[in-house]
Amino acid sequence: MSFEYAGATVEIVDAVTILAAARVNPVELLHRAEFPAPISGAELTVTSADTGSGPVHVFVAEIRAGGDEPSRERIRAMVLGNDPVGLLLAKRIAAGDVVTTRIVDGVGAAVAAYRRLGVDRPAGPAAERERAAVLADAAAGMQATVDYRDGVVRLRAEVARDEVRPEHLEAMVRLMLQAVADLLGPEAGERPLAGRHYLVSRENIPKVATTTRTVTLDDVGGLADLVAQLRQIAVSFRHPEAMARWGARRPQGLLMYGPPGTGKTMLSRALANEIGADFREIRTPEILDKWLGGSERNIKQIFREARRYRVPTLILFDEFDSIISYAGSGGDAASQAINAVAGIFKQEMNDLIEANPNVIVVATTNFPHRVDDSLIRSGRFDVKISVPKPDEVSRAEIFRKMIARLVAVHEEPGFTMFADGIDVAELGRLSHGMTGADIKEALRRVQLAKAMQDARTGGMVVPISQDDLKASIGELLGPR
Ligand SMILES: Nc1ncnc2c1ncn2[C@@H]1O[C@H](COP(=O)(O)OP(=O)(O)O)[C@@H](O)[C@H]1O
Ligand SMILES: [Mg+2]
Repeated sequence: MSFEYAGATVEIVDAVTILAAARVNPVELLHRAEFPAPISGAELTVTSADTGSGPVHVFVAEIRAGGDEPSRERIRAMVLGNDPVGLLLAKRIAAGDVVTTRIVDGVGAAVAAYRRLGVDRPAGPAAERERAAVLADAAAGMQATVDYRDGVVRLRAEVARDEVRPEHLEAMVRLMLQAVADLLGPEAGERPLAGRHYLVSRENIPKVATTTRTVTLDDVGGLADLVAQLRQIAVSFRHPEAMARWGARRPQGLLMYGPPGTGKTMLSRALANEIGADFREIRTPEILDKWLGGSERNIKQIFREARRYRVPTLILFDEFDSIISYAGSGGDAASQAINAVAGIFKQEMNDLIEANPNVIVVATTNFPHRVDDSLIRSGRFDVKISVPKPDEVSRAEIFRKMIARLVAVHEEPGFTMFADGIDVAELGRLSHGMTGADIKEALRRVQLAKAMQDARTGGMVVPISQDDLKASIGELLGPR
């Protein structure tokens, strides 16, 4: 779908998939879009949320105005003024555009926000009429607000999940560009975005949050066989043609089990990264709440969307036992409900794997015996991976990798984080019984102690020593 706005060409790639994906995870749609100064950037996100009146899609556009703050006049114009969004949309309402009508509700809702900011709407009967029009449409289901803080103009609109359509996405993009145009002001001319091209799609999203480096299989300490196995699976996903040529079926269901803190969640993320797959994490409590709230459709919905994913996607059901751990545990209504969830899950898992080779489903659990009966027998979790606690050598390797990573991230000229002569073999020996998560905690405590000392003394701190690390391990393990 593509259209022109204010001189720019906008292309929306696969709006249906965008909206489907947004049910599961927030989708960023406008990475690296450039706008004329003083607009320094804009972001458009669609995500989903639960409200008192049911699940909604939430569209948020954030427009950053660099340099001078846009004047109040300009913000007012954006909402209500002489060439405002409201007026522009009002014309389209007259032409019977339902979607835009709903967005105007939102613009109306913004008025209250502006009043709080000290930007009054014009008084008088016309304003009253306008307000009435706005409120009359409020029942139509869309709510939006516009607010402005610290140089960021933020538009937010909601559409009921059952009603959301590609037209809403298009309307949101138009609204955002209109807001951009309004912020640029009349001096930017009639086509302030002339010659620009905006791509609204899921694909240009960076997979990696900029603040935290993605976790990779190289970061995993120990577990060498398991890591090798995951690399094999990743190869099979990266070469669908070879799989097809030989009629080979790649593993699509993976169950990882083992004690807490052994790296199951980390491994799932690292696998997604190794495959180059999109990563979707399904939060179990969310499903259960929804289910108990009376909509088993939600789990079906997750799978229905998953059948449509066209790019390789790893779906993680983390701590999966909490979905089905009570299965069979009692005859009361709640256990029956959860039994039903397990049943639906099995069925959906079958259908998904038949229908879509791009998806890999990973489930993790700390309690494999709880999951066994109800799911493993379904045969769809064809790879079962035990993730044990690390042995001495693995613990040493975990220390080594974590320390190397801390050094890479934090050390800079003039700042040394770790003293020379850290002996990870000894740390591995001393940390008997600890998991990767425990090791991370031991390091975290030392980091915190050093940082506090740094803060108190203004930088008079020596690097982390072997003794510091040994003390931290000893403290975590307690007296023996
Ligand atoms: N084998 C490992 N190698 C490196 N880091 C690990 C390992 N196991 C655990 N960790 C660290 O511990 C953290 C918590 O582990 P997590 O994946 O949440 O464990 P689980 O899901 O099995 O409970 C990880 O983010 C990682 O930093
Ligand atoms: Mg976990």
